[in-house]
Amino acid sequence: MKANWRQLFAAATLAAFSAGAGAQAVKIGVVLTYTGVGAEFGQQVDRGMQIFMKLNPGAFGSCKVEIVKRDGKNPGGADSKTAAQELITQEKVDIITGVIYSSNAIAIEPVITAAKKPFLIMNAGTAWITNLSPYIARVSFSMWHAGHAVGETAANTLKAKTAVVGFTDYPPGKDSLVAFKTAFEKAGGKVIDEIPMGGPGAVPDFTPFFQRAKDKKPDVFFVFVPAGDHAVGVMRTYNALGMKQAGVRLIGPGDITQDTKLQTMGDDAVGLLTVHHYNADLGNTPNRRFVDAWKKEFGPASTPDFMGVQGYDGMAAIAHAARAVNCNMADADKVMAALKGWKFDDSPRGPISIDPATRDIVMNEYVSEVVKSGGRLVQKNIGVINAVKDMCKELKVDRCGK
Ligand code: PHB
Repeated sequence: MKANWRQLFAAATLAAFSAGAGAQAVKIGVVLTYTGVGAEFGQQVDRGMQIFMKLNPGAFGSCKVEIVKRDGKNPGGADSKTAAQELITQEKVDIITGVIYSSNAIAIEPVITAAKKPFLIMNAGTAWITNLSPYIARVSFSMWHAGHAVGETAANTLKAKTAVVGFTDYPPGKDSLVAFKTAFEKAGGKVIDEIPMGGPGAVPDFTPFFQRAKDKKPDVFFVFVPAGDHAVGVMRTYNALGMKQAGVRLIGPGDITQDTKLQTMGDDAVGLLTVHHYNADLGNTPNRRFVDAWKKEFGPASTPDFMGVQGYDGMAAIAHAARAVNCNMADADKVMAALKGWKFDDSPRGPISIDPATRDIVMNEYVSEVVKSGGRLVQKNIGVINAVKDMCKELKVDRCGK
């Protein structure tokens, strides 16, 4: 039974969870990077969706669920746009979801707006994406959730006076820079250099960028990269250049301490301070259940990370909307109305909701420090900021104010 269920979800492009003959189908179109540089991210979100279905078999009530998957392939935008077009025009899906890279979500937006299809983002974090269309909601994060909080923490808790910012040069990187800088400078700090560090499509050699940061002798070095192999490259370069010993503290959103990569980061990661909405070490009951189910399904050495939990919560949101419209998803306005204000207390990341005014997520942000415990690197939670909204929209910064 287990093998059949997994094969159905993982291998087939179409998965159907039947709630009985004659039940109305909710057709979910998923666009994720299943191959290429973002393949591990696509797998994380996909597995999170699977674990939700496994742990919550009755979540969709009487609705039959069909899942159609397409590979977004890369951060370039064009392949994801084509995938969304096919899902809508050929597969006739009711909702588009998934999407790792902001560039891909931005490319998909005109398609879903023209077709009037709800689009529930499960990762892409550039704050203003949700301002592009009334049919977009987000269950992941905005770069401002963590970026702004790291800026405040650096100034107020770490007492940093100067910072250099290094960022992957595409929308969420630029967004992270502005988020961090806004909060850090408001709290009395000064950003003394801003370093674009290549695109998301391939991991660059970070050495010249990090050397430039080191030479500036800042108190903190704030880095945003799109997790995964980029994050491994960040730690490797930080270690190789002896930046910790030179007194430059590395800080950033939790993308740079992704759970799946943490154990490869070496002891120089100890002391790394991040703010994020999830790490697998969170001790709450829904998270223990989630992590246990994950390890049982995908192996004891595997771990969910923030993208996994976003897939889990995304399915919970879609299930709620499907039930709210009695499985009839034809009216996009009704689906969006159901998503607005949705509250979920059983998320592994703590209580979450969708802000009805912005269609963006409200959630806790956890301040964590990497420590060594029992021979492993662990994210020790040293603070929590409750019910954080997207500060870009709260402060109405640039495109977030539209
Ligand atoms: C994004 O493209 O929005 C993105 C990708 C990976 C991350 C965070 C944001 O870790």
